[in-house]
Amino acid sequence: MRRVARTYGPEEIRRAIGQVPRRRFAFLPTPLEACPRLSEQLGVRLWLKRDDQTGLAFGGNKTRNLEFRLAEALAAGADTLVFGVEVTSNSARQTTAAANKLGLRTVLFLRGDPPAGGPQGNLLLDLLLGAEVHFFHGDDAEMARAMAARADELRREGRRPFDINAAPMFAVASSLAYVESLLETREQMQAAGAFPQHVYMTSGSKGQAGLVLGRALLGERDRYRVVGVAVSKPDEDRRSAVAAIAQAAAARIGLEAQVGPEDVESERGFVGAGYGVPTPEGMAAIRLLAATEGVFLDPVYTGKGMAALLADVRSGRVAPGSDVVFVHTGGTPALFSFAAQLAAPVSQ
Ligand SMILES: Cc1ncc(COP(=O)(O)O)c(C=O)c1O
Repeated sequence: MRRVARTYGPEEIRRAIGQVPRRRFAFLPTPLEACPRLSEQLGVRLWLKRDDQTGLAFGGNKTRNLEFRLAEALAAGADTLVFGVEVTSNSARQTTAAANKLGLRTVLFLRGDPPAGGPQGNLLLDLLLGAEVHFFHGDDAEMARAMAARADELRREGRRPFDINAAPMFAVASSLAYVESLLETREQMQAAGAFPQHVYMTSGSKGQAGLVLGRALLGERDRYRVVGVAVSKPDEDRRSAVAAIAQAAAARIGLEAQVGPEDVESERGFVGAGYGVPTPEGMAAIRLLAATEGVFLDPVYTGKGMAALLADVRSGRVAPGSDVVFVHTGGTPALFSFAAQLAAPVSQ
């Protein structure tokens, strides 16, 4: 049996996070937007937490965590960030933008190929922001070696590189950021006379860990579901990984939290053929949100996340009349990388 966990009030949690070094550039709090037309169609009360509106180069969930990640890099004396991610990455775009704001240079190792038709979406924006871009093929260990080799060269050139991927704050920053996002959401819902029963978010583990941690710290484990929707072939033990990140984040702010794999709800059924490959359900979700609420999702992340939520509403897993929040984590520049598929007529 679980031992009774200590709980904290929102202000206590904010104070604890407030001790962590940070640079401020996000537009916070982001709006919580009601979706009356789509809610009526679905038979639930749906809100969007508009974390696509965080500011910084078209916005998205990364603005929140970069406030901590870049403070860490500056404290380490960095003048150049070295970052390895997928070619479609929103994080690459937003990291480069944040670095520019603080006068740092960015070197990106992007897994994938330059698109045949020329750069679009995030890659176009990375280039426009002035990142030094290296295309890359290989696993994470090879990526780390290639990044280390470039970092050595930079040091020989007299620069002070900082490896973002290996930074202690890398996952913890996203998690703390999403504890804060949850605090905002609860307060915004309370102001609207509601309270979440289901919170859905597209998940690479780190942000979801923040929602799960926030819920545990507040003692609200039994009050609402937090569902993380996977968009890449999940590791065997995603739930343990999410719980471990949540624990590390709690330790970083000196609060006591009991979070285990049993607290983590991971939806793995909407990945489709793989990371970055659009699915019919995800594309339908993009069209539905655009048509009913004038809101854009994207084919790589949020379309798949919303597809999972829509399926759960339609199956009754989310009961009619429920109060539901979808955390819109951004990613919209990717729409332009999938122009051909999105512009194609929809078969009826
Ligand atoms: C639009 C979007 N949604 C969700 C995620 C997942 O974020 P996290 O890794 O913090 O769970 C990412 C980043 O990978 C993203 O770019």
